[in-house]
Order: sequence, then C-alpha cells, then structure tokens
Amino acid sequence: MTAVSPGVQAPVATERLVLRLFTADDVEERYAYQRLPEVARFLYRPPLTREGCAESIAARAAGTPWEADGDGLLLAVCRAQEPRVVIGEVVLTLTSARARQAEIGWVFNPRYAGHGYATEAARALASSAFGRLGVHRLYARLDVLNTASVRVCERLGMRREAHLVDNDLDGDRWGSEYVYAVLAHEWKG
Ligand SMILES: CC(C)(COP(=O)(O)OP(=O)(O)OC[C@H]1O[C@@H](n2cnc3c(N)ncnc32)[C@H](O)[C@@H]1OP(=O)(O)O)[C@@H](O)C(=O)NCCC(=O)NCCS
Repeated sequence: MTAVSPGVQAPVATERLVLRLFTADDVEERYAYQRLPEVARFLYRPPLTREGCAESIAARAAGTPWEADGDGLLLAVCRAQEPRVVIGEVVLTLTSARARQAEIGWVFNPRYAGHGYATEAARALASSAFGRLGVHRLYARLDVLNTASVRVCERLGMRREAHLVDNDLDGDRWGSEYVYAVLAHEWKG
C-alpha cells in the first residue's frame, strides 16, 4: 500500500512532539500501554495482545491511500527529544469518503498523562485532517464516563453534538457515548 498523503505520512512535528508511522520496532512499547486494563477501560474491547499490537502496526505501517471508507492513519506519538520512544498514539479514520467525514481517536501510556501531550498530538492530527486531507467534519465518540477524553475534545474546541444512551454494550455494562465534532470552517488549529 502506498500512502498518497505525503504531508501526513511524513513525520508531523509540533512544539514538543513528533507524530510518525509505527514500525515493527515499536511493538513492545505499544504493547506496554495497550495491554493495560485501565487504558482499554473505555474502548469497548479487551486490552490488546502483543500479537494484536503487531498486526495493527503491520496493517498501518505503510500509511494510507485515504480514498475509501475505512482507510485510516495510525501514528505513533513521540517526544521530540526521544523520537524512538512511543508515548502514545493517535488515529484518524475516513468514515465517509463521499461526505469527507473522519473520526479521530487517541490512546496514551498513562506514564505520560497530564502533560497535554494527547491534546497537542490530536490538535496536530486534526490540522492535518482539515488541511492536507480535506476533511469536512471531524468527530470523536467516547464513553460518557471517559472524563479525560471529554476534556481533550473540549480543549480542541469540539462541540458536543450527541449523547447516546445505552447505545452499546461494554461487556455486561450498558455504555453511553458522547459524539463531539468540529467542522473545517470552525477549526482554529
Ligand atoms: C484520553 C487520554 C489520552 C487523555 O490523557 P491526558 O493525559 O488526560 O490528556 P493530555 O495529554 O492532553 O493532558 C491534559 C492534562 O495535562 C495538563 N497539563 C500539564 N502540563 C501541561 C502542558 N504543558 N500543556 C498542556 N497541558 C498540560 C492539563 O492541564 C490537563 O490536565 P486536566 O485534564 O486534569 O485538566 C488518556 O486518558 C488515555 O489514553 N486514556 C485511555 C484511552 C482512551 O480512553 N482513549 C480515548 C478513547 S475515546
């Protein structure tokens, strides 16, 4: 697979961070946080296995054509001074190519929580989505109990558009979700 969005496929730099494609060398560091139950708590799936981490890295390591529904960009987030150390990840999925709708998500190692890294990385990815990738509307879905993620959305200036009630099952718990979104012409970067 070849990525057709060179600006996004290439590393994206922010003030403190570098966002880059994952490589096979990152499996252990990704697994270090993706295996944690507290990290998976609101993801509506079990923690990832090491094999699961490796498989999704392999599937996304070449970037994305960003053409069809389901195409996605998975980027490792590293601090600029330690570009080999993965502190978390951000993901962007094209959910409707026709209507230029994309979903954004983030997962970080709790060791690096509370420094604004997730917000900084998500802001950079959102800017790439609206800029280079021509997204019209960017949205996030999150469990209503996921207060840290709610705060990321609100820091990004996303609007709470929906409160879905008991719309999914998280194991045997009914899960309720918020949908947050922002349009290209509203994005302030
Ligand atoms: C969601 C998640 C990424 C949020 O992580 P986080 O550390 O709270 O978010 P940030 O990295 O943006 O850090 C923000 C915090 O850093 C603080 N901060 C400290 N120094 C800062 C700085 N220099 N710049 C900006 N913020 C700073 C902010 O005040 C903020 O604290 P607050 O939320 O208590 O007000 C994390 O909880 C996570 O990975 N959860 C598990 C996966 C998950 O649920 N993903 C979402 C699925 S929808």
